[in-house]
Amino acid sequence: MDRSLAADLHDALASARELVREWFEEGVEIFERSAGGPKASEARPARAPAGEPTRPADERPGVAAQAPLLPTPSPFGAAPTLEAVREVLGDCTRCRLAEGRTQIVFGDGNPDADLLFIGEGPGEQEDLQGVPFVGRAGELLTSMIERGLGIARSSVYICNIVKCRPPQNRTPLADEVDACRVFLDGQIDAVRPKVIVALGKPATSLLLGRDVSITRVRGTWQEYRGTPLMPTFHPAFVLRQYTTEIRRLVWEDLKAALVRARERGGRFED
Ligand code: URA
Repeated sequence: MDRSLAADLHDALASARELVREWFEEGVEIFERSAGGPKASEARPARAPAGEPTRPADERPGVAAQAPLLPTPSPFGAAPTLEAVREVLGDCTRCRLAEGRTQIVFGDGNPDADLLFIGEGPGEQEDLQGVPFVGRAGELLTSMIERGLGIARSSVYICNIVKCRPPQNRTPLADEVDACRVFLDGQIDAVRPKVIVALGKPATSLLLGRDVSITRVRGTWQEYRGTPLMPTFHPAFVLRQYTTEIRRLVWEDLKAALVRARERGGRFED
């Protein structure tokens, strides 16, 4: 078989596998033959095994609790600084993640950034170095920002929904995310970006206040407390599914985010 056809087939299969995995995670168990994918009206959530109660979404690992419709008042005031938020965070022991961390990974970059990237939680390297996105996924994110978008990483701000490394890099649990949320909101209020980029399902679900399919929601404009929000795939996912199609989609999302930030008056260093 022609090499490029084989590569395209491989990419298409990898994407299809990932999509099916997501649907499975979301509890979809039936499909209409004619449908391109499950529509809300066509999909039924999976039943819990006999004898097991179905757990509500906000008790499942990694599923964000429903956000209140009105933003909760910020304990840092309307216009906090990152220093003030960091100070209140202190040597945090508000959740179990404190037990396993080497250090708190607060955030990195320009405190006045017009583009804010939000990931999931520190990994091993981030935990050791105290800086978000410095491991393999971080290298990819940095290269997408610097070589892809053509702007300096130091001109954006990068943080995570939880500031301490979850054990074995597992997805943060709902109560851990809840405990850290006020600090994420404080960071957003301090930086006041023109555009937020949510990296992956946990960050997007948290900011949208519902359990999302990242495959469906990525590339579509959303809003978080008045700020345009672009969800995209997490760089760690891109590394796992290193297909031309996935890379093209992320590239389009990031370009759209930069264009929108510039349209809103955003400025960036090369
Ligand atoms: N993945 C994340 O979500 N955040 C990091 O800081 C590193 C990897």
